[in-house]
Amino acid sequence: MQTNTHIAQVVRRALDWPVERTGQLADALATPPNAALGDVAFPCFQLAKELRSAPNLIAKSLAAKIGPDPIIASARAEGAYLNLFLNRANVTEQVLGEIRDNPGTYGRRDLGQGRTLVLDFSAPNIAKPFHFGHLRSTNLGADLARIFAFQGWRVIRKNYIGDWGTQFGFVIWAWQQWGDEGALQARAIDYLVELYIRANQQSGQDPGIREHARKLFLRLEQGDPSIIALWERFRALSLEGFHRTYGRLGIEFDSYEGESSVNDKVQPVIARFLEAGVARESQGAIVVDVSDVLGREIAPCMLQKSDGASTYAARDCAEAIDRWEKYGFGANIYVVSRQEDHFAQVFAALGKLAVAEEWPDNWPALCENVSFGFVRGMSTRKGEAVWLEAVLDEARDRAARYREERAAANARAHPDLPAAEVAEISEAVGQAALLYFDVSSRRMTDVSFDWDTVLQFEGNTGPYLQYTHARMSGIFRKAVEAGLATQPEPGDPRLLVADEEWALLQKLRGFSHAVQRAAEQREPFEVAHYLYELASVFNAFYNKHMVLNEADPARSRARLMLVGSTRTVLASGLKLLGIRPLEYM
Ligand code: ARG
Repeated sequence: MQTNTHIAQVVRRALDWPVERTGQLADALATPPNAALGDVAFPCFQLAKELRSAPNLIAKSLAAKIGPDPIIASARAEGAYLNLFLNRANVTEQVLGEIRDNPGTYGRRDLGQGRTLVLDFSAPNIAKPFHFGHLRSTNLGADLARIFAFQGWRVIRKNYIGDWGTQFGFVIWAWQQWGDEGALQARAIDYLVELYIRANQQSGQDPGIREHARKLFLRLEQGDPSIIALWERFRALSLEGFHRTYGRLGIEFDSYEGESSVNDKVQPVIARFLEAGVARESQGAIVVDVSDVLGREIAPCMLQKSDGASTYAARDCAEAIDRWEKYGFGANIYVVSRQEDHFAQVFAALGKLAVAEEWPDNWPALCENVSFGFVRGMSTRKGEAVWLEAVLDEARDRAARYREERAAANARAHPDLPAAEVAEISEAVGQAALLYFDVSSRRMTDVSFDWDTVLQFEGNTGPYLQYTHARMSGIFRKAVEAGLATQPEPGDPRLLVADEEWALLQKLRGFSHAVQRAAEQREPFEVAHYLYELASVFNAFYNKHMVLNEADPARSRARLMLVGSTRTVLASGLKLLGIRPLEYM
């Protein structure tokens, strides 16, 4: 970062701009498509209008003004770009020093500047299956939470549990028919889902069931104590199960307040919509038209059904208002797939209310739905419903088997470790395979899941990145044996000027930008892709250069510093993705 700030300062001075504009220039810096063109590029298009000159002329005049200094070795104009070659020794010294002095925080920025991000993710339903969509939302959301926090945002992690709605009518009805106390104790949420599915199926033959369910849900909404007691029990049991899974993944939430928690706020909000003239009655229901503001044909936002029951949309409206009042957020992001219309309706309805009630802040514009594509092929032994817990178990078991197979083929690469440690590694590798798969392509891409591919230690996989990390750790273990890492004097970074060393250093410099892109585009993929490239550039370096067996110990020590810095950055990046960096595999 320091290097980029320095470069931006130099360009700013050449332009004769005030100091406040340095940041804008730093943001514009890019990497040329190939190293022969330079180490850093500054595109001049964006200055053309302001300077009333052609971009290539601007590039030429900047190149002429920028002379060599301790960071910049030379400047050259290439079409519309100002290309800079850096002083490898000095930049390497600076970057490695930065990483060594701030191992845990290298790459951090304060782009959030204290703003609050409310992040709504995971949000499973009680009594409906936890499907792949929840799994992906859990993973993408947890990644985004870490990525934004790393950028200086205050992140509120919201698990807006689906603990209200007509499905409870079905579950309660089914419980009244077939409820089995022992099964509920033993299988908790699995059993509730069975009940729900069974009731739903039966209602196909017997429409009366839907009517019973509807009435039971109304009684719940009206606060019937016996129905409330049942619901509370179902909710608590389900939450226990969710907690176990989140604990296993190391994911925490600031709040588990779900749909039921906004219950008492829904009616007053609907009243506001009516009073402001934003909502209207339609065949007994209450709706807000949104086609006009959205500029496309779309169903109105329904706030209340004709039978008086509140809707999912009404609860989301009330909940968003509550979030704004509580947090005054800078962004309110919902990581949810296949509900684009729902969120468009809710945000548009709120936008209309903002205009009608003349709110001082147009905060509905800060609400955003981050959606994602399908995952095909992820089924488990248990069949169709993708239970997170079952998927995690399967990943762990497969990782263990895969490790055994590899160890049988090449024992040297797989040290004999105590059973407890092997179990921990299998869990971590299984999780890495699953979690990394989700972010190995852009989130809107539909993807096909395949157990064998995601578990490989080669290719673009989570285990490959863990393996690369373990490999680096192995280098340090050997260095200690060779008495190298214990040498008191640190290596001299100025010795690291070979092309592969420089390529690796350039990658290390790019970490912060990759995390920034991930936040801006709401794309953890950007971090994953960066780490894959980092690992590949490292492996290219390591295949070409010796670290420990160098004839000159000074060179060995310098390279060890480079390996250590790479390991630090790889570990930071993996942690942003919720993946455990491993010492052994
Ligand atoms: N529980 C919902 C579902 O499973 C997702 C909730 C998303 N969050 C929200 N505020 N609507 O489909």
